[in-house]
Amino acid sequence: MILILLLTLILSAQAYAQDDNKNQSGSEHQESHEQESGKHGGGHGHKGGMMHGGEHDHEEGENGDGHGHGGGHGHEGDKHGDGHGHKGGMMHGGEHDHEDDENGDSHGHGGGHGHEGGMHGGGHGMDNVKQYFEPLPASIIDEEKNAALIKLGKMLYMDPRLSVNDKISCNSCHGLNNYGVDNEPTSPGHEGKRGGRNSPTTMNAALHIAQFWDGRASDVEAQALGPILNPVEMGMPTKGAVVQKIQAIDEYQVLFAEAFSESKHPFNYNNIGKAIGAFERTLLTPSRFDDFLNGDEDALNKSEKKGLKKFMRMGCANCHNGVAIGGNSYKKIGLVEPYETEDMGRYEVTGLESDKKVFKVPSLRNITKTAPYFHDGSVETLDEAIQLMAKHQLGRDHVGHGMVRDIKAFLGSLTGKDTQ
Ligand code: HEC
Ligand code: HEC
Repeated sequence: MILILLLTLILSAQAYAQDDNKNQSGSEHQESHEQESGKHGGGHGHKGGMMHGGEHDHEEGENGDGHGHGGGHGHEGDKHGDGHGHKGGMMHGGEHDHEDDENGDSHGHGGGHGHEGGMHGGGHGMDNVKQYFEPLPASIIDEEKNAALIKLGKMLYMDPRLSVNDKISCNSCHGLNNYGVDNEPTSPGHEGKRGGRNSPTTMNAALHIAQFWDGRASDVEAQALGPILNPVEMGMPTKGAVVQKIQAIDEYQVLFAEAFSESKHPFNYNNIGKAIGAFERTLLTPSRFDDFLNGDEDALNKSEKKGLKKFMRMGCANCHNGVAIGGNSYKKIGLVEPYETEDMGRYEVTGLESDKKVFKVPSLRNITKTAPYFHDGSVETLDEAIQLMAKHQLGRDHVGHGMVRDIKAFLGSLTGKDTQ
Protein backbone atom coordinates (compact mmCIF):
# COMPACT_ATOMS: atom_id res chain seq x y z
CA MET A 1 0.00 0.00 0.00
CA ILE A 2 2.72 2.40 1.07
CA LEU A 3 4.59 1.42 -2.02
CA ILE A 4 1.65 2.29 -4.23
CA LEU A 5 1.26 5.64 -2.52
CA LEU A 6 4.91 6.37 -2.98
CA LEU A 7 4.75 5.40 -6.60
CA THR A 8 1.75 7.62 -7.19
CA LEU A 9 3.62 10.49 -5.60
CA ILE A 10 6.68 9.91 -7.68
CA LEU A 11 4.69 9.58 -10.85
CA SER A 12 2.73 12.74 -10.29
CA ALA A 13 5.90 14.60 -9.39
CA GLN A 14 7.35 13.43 -12.64
CA ALA A 15 4.26 14.42 -14.51
CA TYR A 16 4.84 17.92 -13.19
CA ALA A 17 8.45 17.76 -14.19
CA GLN A 18 7.40 16.70 -17.62
CA ASP A 19 4.86 19.48 -17.81
CA ASP A 20 7.57 21.98 -17.06
CA ASN A 21 9.66 20.60 -19.78
CA LYS A 22 6.80 20.69 -22.11
CA ASN A 23 6.32 24.35 -21.51
CA GLN A 24 9.90 25.04 -22.26
CA SER A 25 10.02 23.27 -25.55
CA GLY A 26 8.68 24.33 -28.89
CA SER A 27 5.01 24.52 -29.62
CA GLU A 28 4.90 21.59 -31.93
CA HIS A 29 6.47 19.51 -29.28
CA GLN A 30 3.99 20.69 -26.77
CA GLU A 31 1.18 19.83 -29.06
CA SER A 32 2.29 16.28 -29.37
CA HIS A 33 2.55 15.98 -25.66
CA GLU A 34 -0.88 17.29 -25.10
CA GLN A 35 -2.14 14.79 -27.55
CA GLU A 36 -0.36 12.20 -25.52
CA SER A 37 -1.91 13.04 -22.23
CA GLY A 38 -5.32 13.30 -23.75
CA LYS A 39 -5.08 9.81 -25.07
CA HIS A 40 -3.24 8.12 -22.32
CA GLY A 41 -3.95 9.94 -19.15
CA GLY A 42 -5.07 7.64 -16.40
CA GLY A 43 -4.04 4.61 -18.29
CA HIS A 44 -1.21 3.64 -16.04
CA GLY A 45 -2.86 2.03 -13.17
CA HIS A 46 -4.79 -0.84 -14.49
CA LYS A 47 -3.92 -4.39 -15.18
CA GLY A 48 -3.34 -5.15 -18.78
CA GLY A 49 -3.33 -1.41 -19.06
CA MET A 50 -1.76 1.07 -21.34
CA MET A 51 1.83 1.73 -21.63
CA HIS A 52 3.54 4.34 -23.54
CA GLY A 53 7.08 4.61 -24.39
CA GLY A 54 7.16 4.26 -28.11
CA GLU A 55 6.24 7.86 -28.58
CA HIS A 56 9.61 9.21 -27.65
CA ASP A 57 11.40 6.64 -29.57
CA HIS A 58 12.71 8.44 -32.56
CA GLU A 59 14.67 6.93 -35.34
CA GLU A 60 18.20 8.07 -35.72
CA GLY A 61 18.57 10.99 -37.96
CA GLU A 62 15.44 12.64 -36.76
CA ASN A 63 16.64 13.94 -33.49
CA GLY A 64 18.42 16.99 -34.58
CA ASP A 65 17.90 19.58 -31.95
CA GLY A 66 17.50 18.07 -28.51
CA HIS A 67 15.32 20.06 -26.18
CA GLY A 68 16.50 18.73 -22.95
CA HIS A 69 13.43 17.09 -21.58
CA GLY A 70 15.32 15.79 -18.61
CA GLY A 71 12.41 15.18 -16.24
CA GLY A 72 10.81 13.00 -18.81
CA HIS A 73 13.67 10.64 -18.73
CA GLY A 74 13.68 9.74 -15.18
CA HIS A 75 10.07 9.13 -15.70
CA GLU A 76 10.48 6.79 -18.57
CA GLY A 77 13.22 4.95 -16.85
CA ASP A 78 11.25 4.37 -13.70
CA LYS A 79 8.22 3.32 -15.51
CA HIS A 80 9.92 0.74 -17.55
CA GLY A 81 12.29 -0.31 -14.90
CA ASP A 82 9.78 -1.50 -12.40
CA GLY A 83 7.48 -3.37 -14.62
CA HIS A 84 4.65 -0.97 -15.24
CA GLY A 85 4.25 -2.19 -18.72
CA HIS A 86 2.13 -5.25 -18.65
CA LYS A 87 2.28 -8.30 -20.71
CA GLY A 88 -0.59 -8.20 -23.03
CA GLY A 89 -1.02 -4.56 -22.29
CA MET A 90 -1.75 -1.88 -24.78
CA MET A 91 0.85 0.23 -26.29
CA HIS A 92 0.60 2.86 -28.84
CA GLY A 93 3.18 4.01 -31.16
CA GLY A 94 1.92 3.85 -34.67
CA GLU A 95 1.10 7.50 -34.89
CA HIS A 96 4.47 8.54 -33.64
CA ASP A 97 6.42 6.29 -35.80
CA HIS A 98 8.65 8.79 -37.46
CA GLU A 99 10.03 6.69 -40.20
CA ASP A 100 11.38 8.36 -43.23
CA ASP A 101 9.62 5.95 -45.47
CA GLU A 102 6.35 6.26 -43.59
CA ASN A 103 5.66 9.76 -42.44
CA GLY A 104 7.55 12.21 -44.48
CA ASP A 105 5.65 14.95 -42.75
CA SER A 106 7.17 14.29 -39.33
CA HIS A 107 5.40 16.18 -36.59
CA GLY A 108 8.15 18.21 -35.13
CA HIS A 109 8.30 16.55 -31.77
CA GLY A 110 11.98 17.13 -31.59
CA GLY A 111 12.66 16.92 -27.88
CA GLY A 112 13.78 14.41 -25.43
CA HIS A 113 16.77 12.89 -26.93
CA GLY A 114 19.13 11.97 -24.25
CA HIS A 115 16.38 9.56 -23.97
CA GLU A 116 17.29 7.66 -27.08
CA GLY A 117 20.56 6.80 -25.49
CA GLY A 118 18.89 5.76 -22.30
CA MET A 119 16.49 3.42 -23.95
CA HIS A 120 18.60 1.94 -26.64
CA GLY A 121 22.18 2.44 -25.78
CA GLY A 122 23.98 -0.05 -23.63
CA GLY A 123 21.30 -2.65 -23.93
CA HIS A 124 18.49 -0.76 -22.22
CA GLY A 125 16.28 -1.27 -25.22
CA MET A 126 15.87 -4.76 -23.88
CA ASP A 127 13.67 -3.49 -21.06
CA ASN A 128 11.13 -2.35 -23.54
CA VAL A 129 11.26 -5.61 -25.43
CA LYS A 130 10.92 -7.70 -22.32
CA GLN A 131 7.69 -6.04 -21.38
CA TYR A 132 6.13 -7.62 -24.41
CA PHE A 133 7.94 -10.86 -24.94
CA GLU A 134 9.25 -13.80 -23.01
CA PRO A 135 11.78 -16.35 -24.18
CA LEU A 136 10.65 -19.94 -24.56
CA PRO A 137 11.20 -22.00 -21.45
CA ALA A 138 13.66 -24.88 -21.83
CA SER A 139 10.82 -27.30 -21.38
CA ILE A 140 7.17 -27.43 -20.32
CA ILE A 141 7.00 -31.13 -19.52
CA ASP A 142 9.35 -33.35 -17.56
CA GLU A 143 10.62 -35.28 -20.54
CA GLU A 144 12.51 -37.81 -18.49
CA LYS A 145 9.68 -38.70 -16.19
CA ASN A 146 7.21 -38.80 -19.07
CA ALA A 147 9.49 -40.51 -21.56
CA ALA A 148 7.17 -43.50 -22.14
CA LEU A 149 4.10 -41.28 -22.51
CA ILE A 150 5.86 -38.99 -24.96
CA LYS A 151 7.16 -41.91 -27.01
CA LEU A 152 3.64 -43.30 -27.27
CA GLY A 153 2.29 -39.87 -28.15
CA LYS A 154 4.75 -39.44 -30.96
CA MET A 155 3.89 -42.81 -32.42
CA LEU A 156 0.17 -41.99 -32.31
CA TYR A 157 0.82 -38.57 -33.84
CA MET A 158 2.59 -40.17 -36.78
CA ASP A 159 0.22 -43.11 -37.19
CA PRO A 160 -2.30 -43.08 -40.06
CA ARG A 161 -4.03 -46.07 -38.47
CA LEU A 162 -5.74 -43.55 -36.23
CA SER A 163 -7.82 -42.69 -39.28
CA VAL A 164 -10.66 -44.72 -40.69
CA ASN A 165 -8.90 -45.77 -43.88
CA ASP A 166 -5.35 -45.81 -42.56
CA LYS A 167 -4.32 -42.86 -44.67
CA ILE A 168 -4.35 -39.73 -42.52
CA SER A 169 -2.30 -39.00 -39.42
CA CYS A 170 -1.91 -35.84 -37.39
CA ASN A 171 1.34 -35.49 -39.23
CA SER A 172 -0.46 -35.30 -42.60
CA CYS A 173 -1.79 -31.85 -41.74
CA HIS A 174 0.77 -30.89 -39.09
CA GLY A 175 4.05 -32.13 -40.55
CA LEU A 176 6.80 -32.31 -37.98
CA ASN A 177 9.36 -31.81 -40.72
CA ASN A 178 7.40 -28.88 -42.02
CA TYR A 179 7.01 -26.56 -39.05
CA GLY A 180 3.84 -28.31 -37.98
CA VAL A 181 1.76 -27.37 -41.02
CA ASP A 182 0.89 -28.57 -44.54
CA ASN A 183 1.06 -25.20 -46.30
CA GLU A 184 -2.45 -25.73 -47.69
CA PRO A 185 -5.15 -23.06 -47.36
CA THR A 186 -7.43 -25.75 -45.91
CA SER A 187 -6.39 -29.35 -45.38
CA PRO A 188 -7.48 -32.40 -47.30
CA GLY A 189 -8.62 -34.95 -44.72
CA HIS A 190 -10.63 -38.15 -45.00
CA GLU A 191 -11.51 -38.77 -48.68
CA GLY A 192 -9.95 -35.47 -49.56
CA LYS A 193 -12.64 -33.50 -47.75
CA ARG A 194 -11.67 -30.09 -46.45
CA GLY A 195 -12.88 -28.08 -43.50
CA GLY A 196 -13.25 -24.32 -43.59
CA ARG A 197 -10.15 -23.46 -41.64
CA ASN A 198 -6.43 -23.43 -42.13
CA SER A 199 -4.31 -25.92 -40.16
CA PRO A 200 -2.37 -24.00 -37.55
CA THR A 201 1.00 -25.32 -36.52
CA THR A 202 1.31 -27.77 -33.65
CA MET A 203 4.74 -26.28 -32.84
CA ASN A 204 4.52 -24.36 -29.57
CA ALA A 205 0.72 -24.76 -29.61
CA ALA A 206 0.80 -26.20 -26.09
CA LEU A 207 1.72 -22.72 -24.87
CA HIS A 208 -1.52 -21.14 -26.09
CA ILE A 209 -4.38 -20.21 -23.78
CA ALA A 210 -6.57 -22.70 -25.64
CA GLN A 211 -6.59 -24.67 -28.89
CA PHE A 212 -8.15 -24.06 -32.31
CA TRP A 213 -8.70 -20.72 -34.02
CA ASP A 214 -11.70 -20.18 -31.79
CA GLY A 215 -10.21 -21.67 -28.62
CA ARG A 216 -12.88 -24.36 -28.29
CA ALA A 217 -10.52 -26.97 -26.81
CA SER A 218 -8.87 -26.13 -23.53
CA ASP A 219 -5.50 -27.78 -24.12
CA VAL A 220 -3.53 -30.02 -26.46
CA GLU A 221 -4.70 -33.15 -24.65
CA ALA A 222 -8.36 -32.29 -25.21
CA GLN A 223 -7.70 -31.00 -28.71
CA ALA A 224 -6.09 -34.23 -29.91
CA LEU A 225 -9.32 -36.14 -29.41
CA GLY A 226 -11.22 -34.02 -31.92
CA PRO A 227 -9.61 -34.69 -35.30
CA ILE A 228 -9.70 -38.48 -34.94
CA LEU A 229 -13.49 -38.45 -34.94
CA ASN A 230 -13.91 -35.49 -37.27
CA PRO A 231 -15.50 -36.70 -40.52
CA VAL A 232 -13.40 -34.30 -42.63
CA GLU A 233 -10.18 -35.15 -40.81
CA MET A 234 -9.50 -38.72 -39.69
CA GLY A 235 -13.07 -39.94 -39.94
CA MET A 236 -13.21 -42.59 -37.22
CA PRO A 237 -16.83 -43.39 -36.32
CA THR A 238 -16.67 -43.65 -32.52
CA LYS A 239 -14.30 -43.45 -29.56
CA GLY A 240 -14.83 -47.16 -28.99
CA ALA A 241 -13.83 -47.95 -32.54
CA VAL A 242 -10.59 -46.00 -32.13
CA VAL A 243 -9.66 -47.74 -28.90
CA GLN A 244 -10.48 -51.15 -30.36
CA LYS A 245 -8.36 -50.52 -33.41
CA ILE A 246 -5.35 -49.29 -31.46
CA GLN A 247 -5.63 -52.00 -28.86
CA ALA A 248 -5.37 -54.67 -31.55
CA ILE A 249 -1.90 -53.47 -32.55
CA ASP A 250 0.85 -55.35 -30.65
CA GLU A 251 3.23 -52.44 -30.46
CA TYR A 252 0.62 -50.33 -28.71
CA GLN A 253 0.02 -53.08 -26.14
CA VAL A 254 3.58 -52.55 -24.97
CA LEU A 255 3.64 -48.78 -25.30
CA PHE A 256 0.33 -48.15 -23.50
CA ALA A 257 1.37 -50.48 -20.66
CA GLU A 258 4.62 -48.56 -20.26
CA ALA A 259 3.07 -45.13 -20.56
CA PHE A 260 0.23 -45.83 -18.15
CA SER A 261 2.02 -48.27 -15.90
CA GLU A 262 -0.08 -47.32 -12.89
CA SER A 263 -3.31 -48.10 -14.63
CA LYS A 264 -4.86 -51.53 -14.95
CA HIS A 265 -6.73 -50.54 -18.09
CA PRO A 266 -4.48 -48.27 -20.04
CA PHE A 267 -6.58 -48.42 -23.19
CA ASN A 268 -9.19 -45.71 -23.26
CA TYR A 269 -9.89 -42.81 -25.52
CA ASN A 270 -8.73 -40.09 -23.13
CA ASN A 271 -5.34 -41.71 -22.75
CA ILE A 272 -4.77 -41.32 -26.48
CA GLY A 273 -5.23 -37.58 -25.98
CA LYS A 274 -2.97 -37.56 -22.94
CA ALA A 275 -0.17 -39.24 -24.84
CA ILE A 276 -0.46 -37.09 -27.97
CA GLY A 277 -0.71 -33.98 -25.80
CA ALA A 278 2.40 -34.94 -23.85
CA PHE A 279 4.27 -35.33 -27.11
CA GLU A 280 3.00 -31.99 -28.38
CA ARG A 281 4.33 -30.34 -25.23
CA THR A 282 7.81 -31.20 -26.45
CA LEU A 283 7.30 -29.30 -29.70
CA LEU A 284 9.00 -26.05 -28.72
CA THR A 285 11.11 -24.28 -31.30
CA PRO A 286 13.71 -21.96 -29.73
CA SER A 287 14.69 -19.22 -32.16
CA ARG A 288 17.30 -16.50 -32.48
CA PHE A 289 14.78 -14.13 -30.96
CA ASP A 290 14.89 -16.24 -27.80
CA ASP A 291 18.66 -15.88 -27.76
CA PHE A 292 18.14 -12.15 -28.09
CA LEU A 293 15.63 -12.10 -25.23
CA ASN A 294 18.08 -14.12 -23.18
CA GLY A 295 20.65 -11.39 -23.57
CA ASP A 296 22.55 -12.12 -26.78
CA GLU A 297 22.19 -8.77 -28.50
CA ASP A 298 23.95 -10.01 -31.59
CA ALA A 299 21.41 -12.74 -32.18
CA LEU A 300 19.38 -10.36 -34.34
CA ASN A 301 20.84 -8.43 -37.24
CA LYS A 302 20.21 -4.77 -37.86
CA SER A 303 17.15 -5.08 -40.00
CA GLU A 304 15.59 -7.64 -37.65
CA LYS A 305 16.10 -5.26 -34.74
CA LYS A 306 14.58 -2.46 -36.74
CA GLY A 307 11.63 -4.68 -37.54
CA LEU A 308 11.25 -5.58 -33.88
CA LYS A 309 11.06 -1.90 -32.94
CA LYS A 310 8.48 -1.27 -35.62
CA PHE A 311 6.51 -4.31 -34.57
CA MET A 312 6.28 -2.87 -31.08
CA ARG A 313 5.80 0.75 -32.05
CA MET A 314 3.19 0.16 -34.66
CA GLY A 315 1.11 -1.82 -32.21
CA CYS A 316 1.46 -5.38 -33.50
CA ALA A 317 2.83 -6.37 -30.11
CA ASN A 318 -0.40 -5.24 -28.45
CA CYS A 319 -1.83 -8.52 -29.62
CA HIS A 320 1.11 -10.67 -30.67
CA ASN A 321 3.09 -10.82 -27.46
CA GLY A 322 4.12 -13.12 -24.63
CA VAL A 323 6.05 -16.32 -24.93
CA ALA A 324 4.44 -17.44 -28.20
CA ILE A 325 4.28 -13.93 -29.72
CA GLY A 326 0.52 -14.46 -29.77
CA GLY A 327 -1.62 -17.38 -28.68
CA ASN A 328 -2.54 -15.71 -25.39
CA SER A 329 -5.65 -13.69 -26.18
CA TYR A 330 -8.70 -13.45 -28.42
CA LYS A 331 -9.19 -10.48 -30.68
CA LYS A 332 -11.55 -9.46 -33.39
CA ILE A 333 -10.34 -9.61 -36.97
CA GLY A 334 -11.16 -6.18 -38.31
CA LEU A 335 -10.87 -4.43 -34.99
CA VAL A 336 -10.41 -1.01 -36.59
CA GLU A 337 -11.33 -1.54 -40.23
CA PRO A 338 -14.02 -4.22 -40.78
CA TYR A 339 -12.78 -7.46 -42.29
CA GLU A 340 -14.86 -9.57 -44.62
CA THR A 341 -15.32 -13.15 -43.45
CA GLU A 342 -18.17 -15.61 -43.04
CA ASP A 343 -16.48 -17.33 -40.14
CA MET A 344 -17.88 -16.04 -36.86
CA GLY A 345 -14.96 -17.46 -34.89
CA ARG A 346 -15.37 -17.51 -31.15
CA TYR A 347 -19.03 -16.53 -31.38
CA GLU A 348 -19.68 -20.16 -32.34
CA VAL A 349 -18.19 -21.22 -29.02
CA THR A 350 -19.62 -18.61 -26.64
CA GLY A 351 -22.72 -17.34 -28.45
CA LEU A 352 -21.77 -13.84 -27.38
CA GLU A 353 -22.49 -11.07 -29.84
CA SER A 354 -19.20 -9.42 -28.91
CA ASP A 355 -17.35 -12.57 -29.98
CA LYS A 356 -18.36 -12.33 -33.63
CA LYS A 357 -15.27 -12.58 -35.84
CA VAL A 358 -13.13 -12.95 -32.76
CA PHE A 359 -10.25 -15.40 -33.10
CA LYS A 360 -7.38 -16.52 -30.99
CA VAL A 361 -4.47 -14.26 -31.86
CA PRO A 362 -2.14 -16.66 -33.65
CA SER A 363 1.39 -17.25 -32.48
CA LEU A 364 3.90 -15.77 -34.89
CA ARG A 365 6.65 -18.27 -34.13
CA ASN A 366 7.79 -19.93 -37.39
CA ILE A 367 5.40 -17.64 -39.23
CA THR A 368 7.60 -17.25 -42.32
CA LYS A 369 7.26 -21.02 -42.80
CA THR A 370 3.56 -21.51 -42.25
CA ALA A 371 1.86 -19.85 -45.21
CA PRO A 372 -0.87 -19.44 -46.21
CA TYR A 373 -2.30 -17.23 -43.49
CA PHE A 374 -5.42 -16.33 -41.53
CA HIS A 375 -8.10 -18.66 -40.21
CA ASP A 376 -9.25 -19.58 -43.70
CA GLY A 377 -5.83 -19.69 -45.32
CA SER A 378 -6.97 -17.03 -47.76
CA VAL A 379 -3.86 -14.87 -47.47
CA GLU A 380 -1.02 -16.24 -49.52
CA THR A 381 1.97 -14.18 -48.54
CA LEU A 382 3.38 -12.77 -45.35
CA ASP A 383 3.70 -9.34 -46.97
CA GLU A 384 -0.02 -9.34 -47.56
CA ALA A 385 -0.74 -10.61 -44.04
CA ILE A 386 1.32 -7.78 -42.54
CA GLN A 387 -0.42 -5.19 -44.68
CA LEU A 388 -3.87 -6.53 -43.85
CA MET A 389 -3.03 -6.55 -40.16
CA ALA A 390 -1.80 -2.95 -40.28
CA LYS A 391 -4.98 -1.93 -42.04
CA HIS A 392 -7.67 -3.93 -40.27
CA GLN A 393 -6.21 -4.19 -36.77
CA LEU A 394 -4.43 -0.86 -36.56
CA GLY A 395 -6.15 1.37 -39.10
CA ARG A 396 -2.97 2.02 -41.07
CA ASP A 397 -3.85 2.05 -44.70
CA HIS A 398 -0.50 2.72 -46.22
CA VAL A 399 2.37 0.86 -44.76
CA GLY A 400 5.48 1.40 -46.75
CA HIS A 401 7.58 -1.25 -48.35
CA GLY A 402 10.34 -0.58 -45.82
CA MET A 403 7.99 -1.20 -42.94
CA VAL A 404 6.80 -4.52 -44.36
CA ARG A 405 10.36 -5.57 -45.17
CA ASP A 406 11.65 -4.85 -41.67
CA ILE A 407 8.74 -6.44 -39.87
CA LYS A 408 9.12 -9.49 -42.07
CA ALA A 409 12.82 -9.61 -41.23
CA PHE A 410 11.98 -9.57 -37.54
CA LEU A 411 9.37 -12.29 -38.00
CA GLY A 412 12.04 -14.40 -39.70
CA SER A 413 14.00 -14.39 -36.45
CA LEU A 414 11.13 -16.29 -34.83
CA THR A 415 11.85 -19.44 -36.83
CA GLY A 416 13.08 -22.40 -34.81
CA LYS A 417 16.83 -22.88 -35.04
CA ASP A 418 16.80 -26.66 -34.91
CA THR A 419 14.31 -26.94 -37.69
CA GLN A 420 16.08 -24.59 -40.07
C1 HEC B 1 -7.13 -33.07 -42.16
C2 HEC B 1 -6.18 -32.22 -41.52
C3 HEC B 1 -5.95 -32.37 -40.04
C4 HEC B 1 -5.64 -33.50 -39.33
C5 HEC B 1 -5.56 -34.92 -39.84
C6 HEC B 1 -5.40 -33.07 -37.98
N1 HEC B 1 -5.55 -31.72 -37.89
FE1 HEC B 1 -5.12 -30.58 -36.29
N2 HEC B 1 -5.99 -29.02 -37.17
C7 HEC B 1 -6.47 -28.99 -38.45
C8 HEC B 1 -7.23 -27.79 -38.66
C9 HEC B 1 -7.92 -27.37 -39.93
C10 HEC B 1 -7.21 -27.09 -37.44
C11 HEC B 1 -7.90 -25.78 -37.13
C12 HEC B 1 -9.37 -26.07 -36.91
C13 HEC B 1 -10.09 -24.99 -36.16
O1 HEC B 1 -9.47 -24.13 -35.56
O2 HEC B 1 -11.32 -25.02 -36.17
C14 HEC B 1 -6.39 -27.89 -36.53
C15 HEC B 1 -6.03 -27.51 -35.24
C16 HEC B 1 -5.14 -28.20 -34.46
C17 HEC B 1 -4.53 -27.71 -33.26
C18 HEC B 1 -4.73 -26.33 -32.65
C19 HEC B 1 -3.52 -25.45 -32.84
C20 HEC B 1 -3.81 -24.02 -32.47
O3 HEC B 1 -2.96 -23.17 -32.67
O4 HEC B 1 -4.91 -23.72 -32.01
C21 HEC B 1 -3.73 -28.71 -32.77
C22 HEC B 1 -2.89 -28.68 -31.52
C23 HEC B 1 -3.88 -29.83 -33.67
N3 HEC B 1 -4.72 -29.47 -34.69
C24 HEC B 1 -3.32 -31.07 -33.46
C25 HEC B 1 -3.72 -32.19 -34.18
C26 HEC B 1 -3.49 -33.56 -33.76
C27 HEC B 1 -2.79 -33.97 -32.49
C28 HEC B 1 -4.00 -34.36 -34.73
C29 HEC B 1 -4.05 -35.87 -34.76
C30 HEC B 1 -4.80 -36.48 -33.68
C31 HEC B 1 -4.54 -33.47 -35.76
N4 HEC B 1 -4.38 -32.18 -35.36
C32 HEC B 1 -5.07 -33.91 -36.95
C33 HEC B 1 -6.25 -29.95 -39.41
C34 HEC B 1 -5.93 -31.26 -39.11
C1 HEC C 1 -5.92 -6.18 -32.32
C2 HEC C 1 -5.08 -7.35 -32.31
C3 HEC C 1 -4.05 -7.52 -33.41
C4 HEC C 1 -3.11 -6.61 -33.84
C5 HEC C 1 -2.90 -5.20 -33.37
C6 HEC C 1 -2.34 -7.29 -34.84
N1 HEC C 1 -2.79 -8.56 -35.01
FE1 HEC C 1 -2.04 -9.93 -36.27
N2 HEC C 1 -3.60 -11.15 -35.89
C7 HEC C 1 -4.60 -10.90 -34.98
C8 HEC C 1 -5.65 -11.89 -35.15
C9 HEC C 1 -6.94 -11.99 -34.35
C10 HEC C 1 -5.25 -12.73 -36.20
C11 HEC C 1 -6.03 -13.88 -36.80
C12 HEC C 1 -6.85 -13.32 -37.94
C13 HEC C 1 -7.58 -14.36 -38.74
O1 HEC C 1 -7.07 -15.44 -38.95
O2 HEC C 1 -8.67 -14.09 -39.20
C14 HEC C 1 -3.93 -12.23 -36.62
C15 HEC C 1 -3.19 -12.82 -37.63
C16 HEC C 1 -1.91 -12.41 -37.99
C17 HEC C 1 -1.06 -13.10 -38.91
C18 HEC C 1 -1.38 -14.39 -39.61
C19 HEC C 1 -1.05 -15.54 -38.69
C20 HEC C 1 -1.41 -16.88 -39.22
O3 HEC C 1 -0.90 -17.87 -38.69
O4 HEC C 1 -2.21 -17.00 -40.16
C21 HEC C 1 0.10 -12.37 -39.02
C22 HEC C 1 1.29 -12.69 -39.87
C23 HEC C 1 -0.05 -11.22 -38.16
N3 HEC C 1 -1.28 -11.29 -37.54
C24 HEC C 1 0.89 -10.22 -38.02
C25 HEC C 1 0.59 -9.00 -37.44
C26 HEC C 1 1.40 -7.82 -37.59
C27 HEC C 1 2.70 -7.74 -38.36
C28 HEC C 1 0.77 -6.81 -36.93
C29 HEC C 1 1.15 -5.34 -36.89
C30 HEC C 1 1.17 -4.69 -38.17
C31 HEC C 1 -0.42 -7.40 -36.33
N4 HEC C 1 -0.50 -8.71 -36.67
C32 HEC C 1 -1.30 -6.70 -35.53
C33 HEC C 1 -4.63 -9.88 -34.06
C34 HEC C 1 -3.85 -8.74 -34.17
